[in-house]
Formats: sequence, C-alpha cells, structure tokens
Amino acid sequence: MLEHEEVLIRTGARSGLPIIIALHSTALGDAVGGCRVWPYPDWQAGLADALALSAAMTLKCAAAGLDFGGGKSVIVLPPGTASLGASRRDALLDFGDAVNDLGGRYHAGEDVGTSAEDMWIARERTPWVHCLPVQHGGSGEPSELTAVGTFAAIEATWRHLAGTSSLAGQRISIVGLGQVGGRLAGLLADAGAELTVADIDPGREELARTLGARWVDPETALTAEADILVPAALGGMLTDEIVPRLRCAAVVGPANNQLGSPSVADELARRGVVWAPDFVVNAGGVIHGTIIDMAGGTPEEARKATLQIGDRLTDVYREATAAGIVPYEAAIRLAHRRIADAAALRETAV
Ligand SMILES: NC(=O)c1ccc[n+]([C@@H]2O[C@H](COP(=O)([O-])OP(=O)(O)OC[C@H]3O[C@@H](n4cnc5c(N)ncnc54)[C@H](O)[C@@H]3O)[C@@H](O)[C@H]2O)c1
Repeated sequence: MLEHEEVLIRTGARSGLPIIIALHSTALGDAVGGCRVWPYPDWQAGLADALALSAAMTLKCAAAGLDFGGGKSVIVLPPGTASLGASRRDALLDFGDAVNDLGGRYHAGEDVGTSAEDMWIARERTPWVHCLPVQHGGSGEPSELTAVGTFAAIEATWRHLAGTSSLAGQRISIVGLGQVGGRLAGLLADAGAELTVADIDPGREELARTLGARWVDPETALTAEADILVPAALGGMLTDEIVPRLRCAAVVGPANNQLGSPSVADELARRGVVWAPDFVVNAGGVIHGTIIDMAGGTPEEARKATLQIGDRLTDVYREATAAGIVPYEAAIRLAHRRIADAAALRETAV
C-alpha cells in the first residue's frame, strides 16, 4: 500500500531529467525536505530513494517536535554522472516548477548534490524553496546545527551507556568528514575525544591532522574498536554483512537512512550495540531550516531547539528499556504518537 499522500514524477521540460517529489505526510503541517541530485541506475531507483527519504522526514519532524510533515525530492542523474553540469540551471528551473505545482504543500531546501545557490535558481519559479544564500536573505549552512545536535546525541548515548556525558578520552570513529562530519569532529576534539576518522576524499586528511585525529581508510574506521561509531557519509552503511564486524558500543551519526533494512536495528541490539535512531539524531538541519528560514526565528532559538535532541534521545532510550523494544521502535512510536495527537486535536477543533 502506498503510504505517501502524493508523488509527483515528471520529465523536466527543459532538462529532460526525471524530477521526483515524494510528499509523505502533511498531518503535522506542510511537508519539508531537501532536494537531492544524485546518479541512480534508473528513475525507479531515484523514486525508491525519494519515497524512503520522505517517510524518514515525517518521522524526523514529528520526533523533533516540529509542526511540519515529511517530503523529499530527487533529480535523477544518469548513472556515472557526477553533477548536473551544463543542465544545472534548466534542471533547477524544472524543479522549481514542480515544487510550485504542489501549491505550497511541499517546501524544499538543499540536500546532497544541491546548494543554497541552487535553491536561489529554483526560487525564480516558486516561493516554496528555502535555505537561500545569505546575501539573498537565507540563513546559511544548516550542517552547523546538524553537528551540534549529533554531538548532543552522542553525549546522551554515552550517558545512557556509561552514566556520564563526558567524552574526554572516549574512542570515537567517524566515517565521512564532510560538512557535518568535519564540524562534528571539531566539537568532539574540543571535548577531548580520541578520534579516528576517514573519508573517501583524500583532501580531508588535512583536517584530520589539524584535529590530531588518526586518519584511516573508511573500512578501517567503520570496523575500528571504538566506544562510538559515527556514520557521517551517505546512508545504508549498516548492513547485515557489516553488523557482525562492528567493534563499537554504540552507533550515533548524522547520516540519513543508515539501516540497510529495518531488521538491522534488531540485529544491532542482539549484538549489544546501541543504535541511536538517525532521524532523531540528525534533526538539527531541519530545525535550522524550519525555525530560521521558514518561521523567521533567531539562530539562538534554533540552537536551543537543537540541543533538546539529547533529551529526546534519552526519552527514547528510557521508553525502549521500559517497553523491552529497540530504540528505533521506541522513536517511531514517539513520532507516531505526536502525529496521532495532532490528528485528534484537529478532530476536536472541527
Ligand atoms: N548537512 C546537513 O545539515 C544534514 C542534515 C541531516 C542529515 N544529513 C546527512 O548527513 C550525512 C552527511 O551530510 P553532509 O552534509 O556532511 O554531506 P557531505 O557531502 O558534505 O559529506 C559527506 C562526506 O562523506 C564522504 N563519503 C562519501 N562516501 C563515503 C564512504 N563510503 N566512506 C567515507 N566517506 C565517504 C564524502 O567524501 C564527504 O566528504 C548525509 O547522509 C546527509 O544526508 C546532513
């Protein structure tokens, strides 16, 4: 059964590229979610990604206490294509038209493969794109708050495991040293953690050196002996094959959709590894976008809301322990409860 409210799929009139917008739920409010530009084997694979990512956005907004629903868009690049290249402007105008046709039920921002400048191009066709460049009234880089929220989640997880949130001397292994992973590594280094880091981009080794972190290849970082493993690259890293090889006490990271399949959450628990649900951990970016760009709030308000991620995760761990379920299940229950409460409130109001 399709659980999405609406899915728009079209061939861009200018670019000829598949443009997909998955609108999962507007139960809590208009749907929000980034626009991903990525090469897929075919448009169906792009659609599958948009469907999964938009469902995760619904959970993310609900669990973060935001009155927004979940959506996501994908511009499908042909296999082996690294970026939009010469068709960038055409594709983004096509994308803006598609967002506009949803009449404001979906609000877009940047995601993997797009930038604030790209959102400014799409803005030529619709008012419902956000996260614009600072010189055009945007709020700047959201990954700062994503890193802050992930740091709060790591502290909460360590408190859950060891009774203290102090990360001094704890071994933390980070896979992916990009916008979020790089900033998070800085916060963790300042907290005195012992860092192992990896990225497929050799250009990131310089940052590792600056932070005094051990630089290894991604495979080594993923399976390193560590207190906390931090997936901060693309999703799908936690597979049935990799889980038996993990040597960490917990996995807490910003990457979206980390589980290869939902059953991996059970397998992690069976092996005694605490997995912090990604959609709770990485809500800092959407908090940034919705509070500052969409609601006109201040950076301080967004930061305060982001720091609550630690307490929310503690509630998730508490509920999981009390109910004898994995944190993933507890977080989904929390999100569904919020959505059901909102629906009940609306019915009372009618
Ligand atoms: N930027 C945000 O605010 C935000 C918010 C929520 C979730 N996320 C998620 O967090 C993750 C990281 O986001 P980002 O903005 O830092 O992206 P990014 O593209 O800036 O960084 C990702 C980094 O991972 C590296 N990488 C890719 N594949 C790798 C692999 N197999 N092994 C090791 N390194 C690899 C890349 O070279 C890059 O440096 C993504 O999954 C993203 O969806 C980001």
